[in-house]
Amino acid sequence: MGDAGLYLPCRAGFEPECAAEVTERAGTFGVGGYAKTERDSGYVRFLGLDATSQSQLCRALPWRELIFARQRLSVFAELQGLDPKDRLTPVLEAMAGSGQVFGELSMEHPDADVGRDLAGLARSFGNALRAGLRKVGHLSAKDDARKPTLHVVLLAGNHLLLAAGDPDNSPPWVGGIPRLKLAHDAPSRSALKLEEALLSLLSAEERARWMKSGQQAVDLGAAPGGWSWVLARAGLSVTAIDNGPLADSAMGTGLIKHLHSDGFRWRPPHPVDWLVCDMVEQPKRVAALMGDWLIEGDARRAIFNLKLPMKKRWQEVREQLDTLHSRLQQAGLDLQLRARQLYHDREEITVAVLPR
Ligand SMILES: C[S@@+](CC[C@H](N)C(=O)[O-])C[C@H]1O[C@@H](n2cnc3c(N)ncnc32)[C@H](O)[C@@H]1O
Repeated sequence: MGDAGLYLPCRAGFEPECAAEVTERAGTFGVGGYAKTERDSGYVRFLGLDATSQSQLCRALPWRELIFARQRLSVFAELQGLDPKDRLTPVLEAMAGSGQVFGELSMEHPDADVGRDLAGLARSFGNALRAGLRKVGHLSAKDDARKPTLHVVLLAGNHLLLAAGDPDNSPPWVGGIPRLKLAHDAPSRSALKLEEALLSLLSAEERARWMKSGQQAVDLGAAPGGWSWVLARAGLSVTAIDNGPLADSAMGTGLIKHLHSDGFRWRPPHPVDWLVCDMVEQPKRVAALMGDWLIEGDARRAIFNLKLPMKKRWQEVREQLDTLHSRLQQAGLDLQLRARQLYHDREEITVAVLPR
C-alpha cells in the first residue's frame, strides 16, 4: 500500500545517527531505499522499498541490534489530512484491506516536543479505536500477545501511520521507551541507565544466566553510586572506583567497597564477573580500557557508556565498536557486542560485551 517503509523512533536530535545506521544496515543486506528525516522530530522513516524488501529488512533488523533506533516498525498504511471530527472511519477503511486480526493496539507518537502534544489524543483516540476495531473483528476481544500488535503512530493530529509489529521481535514497551521509576533511595538518576541496560540489552533468560547473586563486579567512575547500587541490589559484591564520594544509600547495601583510585590504572587482584564503567572520558579511551580488561582476563563481561559530545557521532560509534570487536576476535574471545542508545542515555550510548 504505497511507499510506507519503516518507522524508526529515536532520541530527538539523533535522527542523523539513526538514519545513517539504518541506511548502512540496509546496504549490507543489499536492500536499497533512503532515510527521510527531520531534525528533532524524534523519528526516521526509511522509504523507497518494495513490499518484499520492506518486510525482509524489518525482519533483518532485530530491535535489540539497533543502536539509535528504539524500535523499527513495518508501516502498511499512511493516512494524511485526517478530519479531526472523524479519524476513526479512515483507519477502519485502511484496515479493511489487511484482513488481519491483531492481538493488541499500541498507540504511539514520537518522543519529541511535537509528539508530547499528541499524548492526550493518543489516549482518547486509542480508546475509540480499540472499541471500533473490536466491533469489526480487527482486534481480538481480549489482548492476545501471541498475535501481531497493531501500532498506530500519531505524527500529527491529522497524520498517522499504521504498522504491524511482531510480538517476538519488538521491545515490550510502547515506543521502545521503558517507563522505569527511580527508587527513592537510588544514589543518582544514572541508576536508571544501568537498570534499563540490563532490561534492554539482555533478555530475561540471559539476565538469569549471566547475572547472579554472589558474583563480583567492578564499577569504574562509580560516584555517587547509582550503578554500584543497582548491582548490589542484584546481590553482587561491587568494588566502586572513584575519587568522588559515594551516597550513604549505596554504602548502606553492605556490598560495596569504595576505593579512591584512578579507573584507568586500578586492576583487581582476581578476575571479576562484571566490569561496568560510566567514566566521562573519550569513547576511544573507554573502549580501549574495556578491551584491555576483557583481553587480559580481568573481567568476563562488561557494560559501559560511550559519551558522544562530538559532531560525527555515528562514525565515532562505528569506529570504536569495530575496533573493540576486532581486538576481542584477534584475542580469540568468543564475546558479542550489543549497543543501544537507551531512553535514559543522553549524549551517549550503552554497550554490553557478553558471552555468545
Ligand atoms: C557520570 S558519573 C558516574 C555516575 C554513576 N554511574 C552513578 O550511577 O551514580 C562519572 C564519574 O566518573 C568519575 N571519573 C571520571 N574519570 C575517572 C577516573 N579516571 N577514575 C575514576 N573515576 C573517574 C567521576 O569522578 C564521576 O564521579
